[in-house]
Amino acid sequence: MDSQISSPIPVIFDTDPGIDDALALALLACHPGFDLVAVTAVFGNGPVETTTRNARGLTALFGKDIPVAAGASGPLLDKRRRKDAAHVHGDDGLGGVAARLPEPARALDPRPAHQLICDMVNARPGEITLVAVGPFTNLALALAHDASIAGKVKRVVVMGGAFGLKGHAGNVSPVAEANIMADPEAADQVFTAAWPVTIVGLDVTQEAIMREADLAKLRGRGDGAGELLWLATRHYQQFYDARDGIGGIYAHDASAAAILLVPEAFTLRAGPVRVALEGIATGQTIQDWRNEHGTGTPWSGHPSQQVCVEVDAPRVLALFDEIF
Ligand code: RIB
Ligand code: CA
Repeated sequence: MDSQISSPIPVIFDTDPGIDDALALALLACHPGFDLVAVTAVFGNGPVETTTRNARGLTALFGKDIPVAAGASGPLLDKRRRKDAAHVHGDDGLGGVAARLPEPARALDPRPAHQLICDMVNARPGEITLVAVGPFTNLALALAHDASIAGKVKRVVVMGGAFGLKGHAGNVSPVAEANIMADPEAADQVFTAAWPVTIVGLDVTQEAIMREADLAKLRGRGDGAGELLWLATRHYQQFYDARDGIGGIYAHDASAAAILLVPEAFTLRAGPVRVALEGIATGQTIQDWRNEHGTGTPWSGHPSQQVCVEVDAPRVLALFDEIF
């Protein structure tokens, strides 16, 4: 089936670019199946000043003249501290290529990210999909600012979490994934809110490997954009080659965009999801998918959300042939 759809999907992208974030943004900005309406930045792969600069430059690189807003500079609770991600994404968050990004013509949106999200969702009730691929602080702040948006967002898709399937557990602790660990309270609030969340975790993103040859196919395309992505991924690939020997990178964040275009490539499992907030399992995502534990549990009374448990990775990666 062709992944092309007739009516482009309106998306707000909440992100911490980030090299794999840049690949996701390329899909969201350049694939005709999407109508990217705004980008909001959050701390994560670098300080929020860095991720905001990268979000603006990448949005300009991909030819989108849309609002970009800066968001949270840290997690909801001060006690949380994320390890520096420079060894994964580089000091500039983009593997050393940030200085090559174009100067954005449009000024930074003056609103904080959570305000922009609320304004846009309220202006188009039932239409906007939120795709969030960094710590979920901006989304939690948006819910706190205006709880009514939960009923007005069409859908929330996040890259985050790990559920232990196919041996995929945590990437920053034995059980915790980076975006969750960076702000576990925010993640728990987002997963227990009354909006439909699809969770694209390491269980599937670590199955979606872009090999060096896949990445090289981007070169020479997109008026320099493909070359820049190729160069940025050199740093990221070195990290994953040294750690996992995969000869490429994981398409973490791009998988969250992909599920909107090729939902048939993903298998979902339903059930409420909670995040461990204390102790050695802090940041672990746990789904009660068997629904046999009755009332009075941490999952009772919370909305059923969708967790990705399997992926047809070639379908996801093929989307990169449809941009530029
Ligand atoms: O664990 C993978 C996630 O952490 C991705 O969103 C990546 O960009 C990093 O932020
Ligand atoms: Ca990210």
